[in-house]
Amino acid sequence: MGMEEKLQRLEAMREEAALGGGEDRVAAQHAKGKLSARERLDLLLDEDSFVELDRFVTHRATAFGLEDRKVLGDGVVTGYGAIHGRLVYVFSQDFTVFGGSLSETHAEKIVKVQELALKNGAPVVGLNDSGGARIQEGVASLGGYADIFLRNTLASGVIPQISLILGPCAGGAVYSPAITDFVYMVRGTSYMFVTGPNVVKTVTHEDIDMEGLGGADVHAGTSGVAHFAHDSEPEALDAVRELFKYVPQNNTEAPPRGPATDPTDRREESLLEIVPDNPNRPYDMRRVIEAVVDDGVFQEVHAGFAQNILVGFAHLGGHSVGIVANQPNVLAGVLDIDSATKGARFVRFCDAFNVPLVVLEDVPGFLPGVGQEHGGIIRHGAKLLYAFSEATVPKVTVITRKAYGGAYDVMNSKHIRGDLNLAWPTAEIAVMGPKGAVEILFRKEIAEAEDSEAATEERIEEYRERFAHPYIAASRGFLDDVIDPRETRPRLVSALDMLVRKRDQNPVKKHGNIPL
Ligand code: HXC
Repeated sequence: MGMEEKLQRLEAMREEAALGGGEDRVAAQHAKGKLSARERLDLLLDEDSFVELDRFVTHRATAFGLEDRKVLGDGVVTGYGAIHGRLVYVFSQDFTVFGGSLSETHAEKIVKVQELALKNGAPVVGLNDSGGARIQEGVASLGGYADIFLRNTLASGVIPQISLILGPCAGGAVYSPAITDFVYMVRGTSYMFVTGPNVVKTVTHEDIDMEGLGGADVHAGTSGVAHFAHDSEPEALDAVRELFKYVPQNNTEAPPRGPATDPTDRREESLLEIVPDNPNRPYDMRRVIEAVVDDGVFQEVHAGFAQNILVGFAHLGGHSVGIVANQPNVLAGVLDIDSATKGARFVRFCDAFNVPLVVLEDVPGFLPGVGQEHGGIIRHGAKLLYAFSEATVPKVTVITRKAYGGAYDVMNSKHIRGDLNLAWPTAEIAVMGPKGAVEILFRKEIAEAEDSEAATEERIEEYRERFAHPYIAASRGFLDDVIDPRETRPRLVSALDMLVRKRDQNPVKKHGNIPL
């Protein structure tokens, strides 16, 4: 065979590999509102940047008719490419080939890109669309999953790992995305569950469909398994590209800088109007964030889950930052089980990947209730405390209003190594809110008073004057300054500039034991 023919053969095989399960199956995929594995990569990666690996790999199964059915690539497209010109490794499961099911060789292809990514310090983006373990391969397929889980775990905190769920993701297969840093889902076409609706029906007699059990809104809103829910695949893929504007290639590099076109000395008049005079009135902390960050762009993470805390990325004077903010608009911004878990996971991502933390604080405390106590608010609340305490990235806090009780300590206080702690003049820092405090301290006096309501009010006023301001904390140096709200942006940018070479370390240890 001459060179010409050899090249023709290569071209023919490449074309065969690119077809996956064939045109009919691709058409069926499209009919479900789903893109093909390769179309997805085209949208995710910079134009013409994708380089494929292992396109000629086929499975080794020898039973149930599979021995005669081999498809080049074996149901997953793998390789590397670029997002905003920066290297990323990818795998994209191809549902048109044996339902995207995971064989031994399919797993080996994924493991290969995981290992390349780890060695070369670049993120992995996994596009999941699979019927799970390839049934015909039995334990070889289960082993393949475990090989992937292990690499996910070893890469955790070293390179960013992103999962998109773009079809079925069920059984043990869910545990690879679960270990990764961010999970994206698409409404109507993707679902995740450990056991599907049929098993649920048999075991618990609950009637539920796939979307209701494990669709995008369920996981982005109720379970917290997914960080993002989108209406379409192109939207989800574009959102991943947006995220890459804030995250570094690996744990030894700085995150990418933003365009920094928004003036760093911009004073924001609207901040004077945001906090209501009545301390019990809610307001939207998102407005504060958007007024302060570069060009008002806040890339919110986990927006639908535990909405009493806001987490997400932004640029501030060009610095990529992770923002953690209490949200007075939802449950008065109280900390509870879900918000503590959500905040802790985000703080740990930022700390692992050198993203400075900016905390905006207005927190009345932890949520009281039997449900919270029995659900383990002690164990879960400790996660957020632990995460902030162990974080060594630059950490800046602005208290806009309430900083009560244990929550004051937790929300990146000076005592747990906050680098710069600022407060607006509207800040109130105390062991508890005025009413609760007065009812404890003056119970007897109030009970014996002729007009107990008036007595309570009088004591509340006295308490407010004594504690409901930031100056005691500032006099102790627990706050570094009390600032005019309008100066928040310039002061934050200056803090981040000042801390840009921060070095801090935790004691040498194998790893800590965060309360799980
Ligand atoms: C082998 C599979 C497969 C699998 C699907 N296919 N799942 N082949 N192993 N796990 C094949 C089908 O036989 C079919 O082949 C093609 O993929 C498309 O599947 P359909 O059923 O026609 O598609 P659809 O109707 O869209 O249904 C999709 C599905 C269903 C809901 C995912 O295929 C399904 O229930 N599959 C099995 C899911 C499952 O139980 N997997 C094991 C989970 S446990 P043909 O040739 O007919 O087109 C698990 C353990 C992981 O994964 C362990 C980790 C520790």
